[in-house]
Amino acid sequence: MSHQKNQRFWNRIAARYAARPLKNVPAYEAMLGDVASRLKGSDTVLEVGCGTGGTAIRLAQGVAQWTATDFSAEMVKIAKAKPSGRNVRFVVSDVSNAFDGGPFDAICAFNVLHLVDDLPEMLTRIHAHLKPGGQLICKTWCFADVNWALRALFPVLRVFGLFPVAASLGATQLRQSIRDAGFEIVDEHLLGIILRTPISLPANTVRL
Ligand SMILES: C[S@@+](CC[C@H](N)C(=O)[O-])C[C@H]1O[C@@H](n2cnc3c(N)ncnc32)[C@H](O)[C@@H]1O
Repeated sequence: MSHQKNQRFWNRIAARYAARPLKNVPAYEAMLGDVASRLKGSDTVLEVGCGTGGTAIRLAQGVAQWTATDFSAEMVKIAKAKPSGRNVRFVVSDVSNAFDGGPFDAICAFNVLHLVDDLPEMLTRIHAHLKPGGQLICKTWCFADVNWALRALFPVLRVFGLFPVAASLGATQLRQSIRDAGFEIVDEHLLGIILRTPISLPANTVRL
């Protein structure tokens, strides 16, 4: 149910999402640089929840093949309309069956793992579709760790269709779920500050 609701939500807001200016360009560029430094020219990469494809198009320049997937047909339509390299492929697909063409050297999940229905199950599937030594690179909102005022605001925004259904995930729980799926966390950063409250948005780089 939350799945279909979310699919409708992202289809509805895709054009607005594509038009929004990046809030923090230096932080975004730093994130791109960090991810690029973890990938090799020979890598085949799967991205789940790619949105309108900007990150895929940039990062694909440093790898052999980048398959970018999203369950929102509207998001993917916008992504496909952007100029991109020949090694980028955009596919409409739910995270749960996005793994065609695997196993992959890396799977990227930026701002999406908090949106999936069953995170432990999803992490297990991701793990199963990585090559030995492969890595999951993810950036995940941890709403349980933001301050109480913001936490109170999200359900209100959701009632008005301004916010998706999202797990109230904390960084500790996220780390545990990642480890339980069989990964080793090799690096982690805390990203984002709102109203002087650090948002736990660990960008985990995890290895098999
Ligand atoms: C917050 S946006 C992030 C988009 C992009 N990764 C970025 O960082 O800008 C979340 C994206 O995940 C997609 N999404 C949410 N749940 C999904 C699911 N179960 N399967 C595939 N895509 C999903 C949405 O359609 C949306 O494009």
